[in-house]
Amino acid sequence: MLGLFDSGLGGLTVVRRVRELLPAHDLLFFADQAHVPYGDRTPEDLLRLLHHNLAWLDSRGVDAIVMACNTSCAMAERFGWPQTRAPVLDLIESAALAVERSGFTRVGVVATAATASSGAYGRKIRARVPHAAVYETGAPDLVPLVEAGKLGGPEARAAVERACASLPANLDAVLLACTHFPILDAHFAAVLGSGVVRIDPALVQAERTFALVTELGLAPGTGQLECASNGDPQRFGAGLEHLIGDLHPEVHRLQGVEG
Ligand code: DGL
Repeated sequence: MLGLFDSGLGGLTVVRRVRELLPAHDLLFFADQAHVPYGDRTPEDLLRLLHHNLAWLDSRGVDAIVMACNTSCAMAERFGWPQTRAPVLDLIESAALAVERSGFTRVGVVATAATASSGAYGRKIRARVPHAAVYETGAPDLVPLVEAGKLGGPEARAAVERACASLPANLDAVLLACTHFPILDAHFAAVLGSGVVRIDPALVQAERTFALVTELGLAPGTGQLECASNGDPQRFGAGLEHLIGDLHPEVHRLQGVEG
């Protein structure tokens, strides 16, 4: 079984990509909605939550942990990864690999405030592409909109416009560096225009997950998709139905996780 977590519904964008490549492997996804949004929290608080969430997935006996939260990865980049029994796949490393493969050198990073101010994306990308110009910007308004299911309409469009306003012109690509943001991709497409490529790091994360599963020799299961949240059960259920209803998630532990 593979374990994933995020602060909320955004991690489902990673779940979907992993499911596409590994349809028969069992997945366990935890949404820490008691603490969403992560992006406004202090680094110390976020590090504590990272420890907690990794330990919970480890305690459930997962074979590997596929990170579905950029903000948590940014804290690990700064403070170091907590010890885990299961191997952990870093999402920001996947994002940096995606940039390297693309050949782009002028890259915008739209992320949570905590991720942007950590500078983790810039460091990880420049480690692979030393001459890259990386512009990181925080977008605190977007996660609450996605969590509230306000995806269409002028409010979401205006929030994405604000999020992109401080990016310079002539970018090759923009990384959707929070897993909630691909849910607003239609707005990013409209605001950025066809000349800017949008990169969702979840695609490379899923590829690396496939490679890790192969390397570890993890046998397929029954294709179970278990989803858990410590937030409001009704809101979580509605979000799951809307975003991954076609994947038939089993919601076993809506309120069973402390946080
Ligand atoms: N979806 C998460 C990320 O990728 C965190 C969003 C939040 O809760 O602020 O960073």
